[in-house]
Amino acid sequence: MARQNLLPRTAPFGDGERASLDAVLGSATPVQRAWLAGFLAGLDAAGGQPAAAPAALPKAAEPLTIVYASESGNSEALAGNVAKLARKQGFKPKVVDFSDLDVASLPKAGKLIAIAATWGEGEPPARAVRAYGELMGEGAPRIDGVDFAVLALGDTSYVEFCAIGKALDARFEALGGKRAAERADLDLDFEKPAADWIKNTLKALAPAETPDNVVAVDFARAAPGEDDDAEPSREPLVVEVVEHVNLNSSRSDKETIHLALAFEDGAPAYEPGDSLEIFPENDPQLVDEILTAAGLSGDEALRKALLAERDITTLSTATIERFVKATGHADAQKLIDGGEARAWIEGRHLIDLLATFPATLTADHLTTITRPLPPRAYSIASSRKEVGDEVHLAIVAVRYETHGRARSGVASVHVADRIRDGAKLRVRLKPNRHFRLPQDPATDIIMVGPGTGVAPFRAFVQERRAIEAPGRSWLFFGDRHFLHDFLYQLEWQEALEDGSLTKIDVAFSRDQPEKIYVQNRITHNAQELVSWLEGGAHFYVCGDAKNMAKDVRAAVVRAYEIARSLSPADAEAQVAALERSHRYQQDVY
Ligand SMILES: Cc1cc2nc3c(=O)[nH]c(=O)nc-3n(C[C@H](O)[C@H](O)[C@H](O)COP(=O)(O)OP(=O)(O)OC[C@H]3O[C@@H](n4cnc5c(N)ncnc54)[C@H](O)[C@@H]3O)c2cc1C
Ligand SMILES: Cc1cc2nc3c(=O)[nH]c(=O)nc-3n(C[C@H](O)[C@H](O)[C@H](O)COP(=O)(O)O)c2cc1C
Repeated sequence: MARQNLLPRTAPFGDGERASLDAVLGSATPVQRAWLAGFLAGLDAAGGQPAAAPAALPKAAEPLTIVYASESGNSEALAGNVAKLARKQGFKPKVVDFSDLDVASLPKAGKLIAIAATWGEGEPPARAVRAYGELMGEGAPRIDGVDFAVLALGDTSYVEFCAIGKALDARFEALGGKRAAERADLDLDFEKPAADWIKNTLKALAPAETPDNVVAVDFARAAPGEDDDAEPSREPLVVEVVEHVNLNSSRSDKETIHLALAFEDGAPAYEPGDSLEIFPENDPQLVDEILTAAGLSGDEALRKALLAERDITTLSTATIERFVKATGHADAQKLIDGGEARAWIEGRHLIDLLATFPATLTADHLTTITRPLPPRAYSIASSRKEVGDEVHLAIVAVRYETHGRARSGVASVHVADRIRDGAKLRVRLKPNRHFRLPQDPATDIIMVGPGTGVAPFRAFVQERRAIEAPGRSWLFFGDRHFLHDFLYQLEWQEALEDGSLTKIDVAFSRDQPEKIYVQNRITHNAQELVSWLEGGAHFYVCGDAKNMAKDVRAAVVRAYEIARSLSPADAEAQVAALERSHRYQQDVY
């Protein structure tokens, strides 16, 4: 391609300089040229120094609001990625957590990207509940003139796949917004498709080029989380199992494995409250069953891939659709045509599909039918200040039966049954900056963690012991039986003795005729609990999301009613205020 000579011969540059500038400007996009023009104008205005905010910008960069609804950080990280790329492309991005979102400000957003995860069973992430409710409610403002695009994160193993992203997309349109790009509904392997969606959406949202050398520069510094250097590596690390102990007694009907993992080159810089993802391996027996059912036994390469790389348990309607496409199976097609697929997959796995609708598959079919095997997150149960280069986890083995078949949780049973001291595991740190000890170690903390929900609180107590935190600590723990299921019992007793734990209240549900849970202990201790909270204590909940977390929240509301004779609405307002000030934090699953 012939080089474009953009600069006239009369330009105040030598021949060599003119050629260099032509080389750069000739291939620059209009946005890059506009950016450069603005940059030089700003530089000049700031007396030759790159300025944090140039005195007079001829035209501001295009504002872009990026809102995210996130529980475990994926949407939040993607919002940071959008902002980073948007800034490079001449936008002025503003990233807003749904928990801080003022819904009334949306009509002024101009350009809006929403990234939303779905939790529970089709619910918004906990921190997003308030703003999401306002947006869906009758008082939501019109957003006529706002160009929007929605990226939905989810997991196809849930019936309500990407429900929140879908609902937001529809709501923005109903409120008068203009969809600038089609929504993408992404599964757990979202990284690559999300990067593509972000690129295309920013292109769609970019302002039309104006002919008269637009100056559009955002001189603001990158927002926290947008910094290239701050990005932790996403590559899994290989660790060695140095301790593998069942925390339940041999007479318990549960099995909770305490794992200590050693990092050869030093543990990643984790904080109490973070999780560690484990990349599991599938049950070899199930792999062989699937290979046999698909008529593919003997394919060693495929066997290896199915063991470590493909999700061979999850069955979604999308799996059935892909199966039908690959095999043309008429009976499976009927499930879809008759609208029964959604009900049929309930409690069933891939092996049920292959057994019910026999078909001979190719290795390629099996690969396209299945999705990549996702890692599983586990709350870190240790503090580096106490265990150095190790990470400790507490993992309960998931075993149950559906449709006449015994089922095993992929990762938890891999750890419980096939991993022993000396084994290697692939892991990755998953930081959670929304589940953190108070900055001031003199602040009191209240921790509610039944079952494996107690794991992060072992890390909290270790950390506060190591730094000799003067604040008081109160733990609510619960499980089935005192004798068989009291996870880390001796450690809590030691912590009570050395003062790193001030108080423990336990609820063993099956030790007496009536069921007792942590939430009952909370209301039972209403006066003291509320006086700790009024004294500034931070409140933490970890563990079961389906029932426990909701019941605990209701119990705290009830505690305010009891302790301060408040109406339910006023007591609710107290807990909502705790949430808004980030003093009520939860990490639930
Ligand atoms: C931030 C975070 C922290 C976590 N921390 C911990 C932790 O500290 N300790 C811990 O043990 N887990 C923890 N988990 C849960 C963990 O990530 C896994 O989800 C869990 O171990 C199950 O994974 P699995 O691979 O063994 O089971 P999977 O193969 O993923 O199977 C689990 C699925 O089986 C189904 N299922 C389970 N029980 C039944 C039943 N009775 N009937 C019908 N279907 C059923 C459900 O669909 C369930 O989603 C955490 C999760 C998150 C998101
Ligand atoms: C306890 C739990 C419940 C979930 N419920 C749903 C669901 O109902 N629908 C869905 O599509 N995804 C569901 N997911 C998957 C999350 O949306 C997905 O992991 C997403 O990437 C999380 O994004 P975040 O880190 O921004 O919160 C669930 C995940 C967990 C751990």
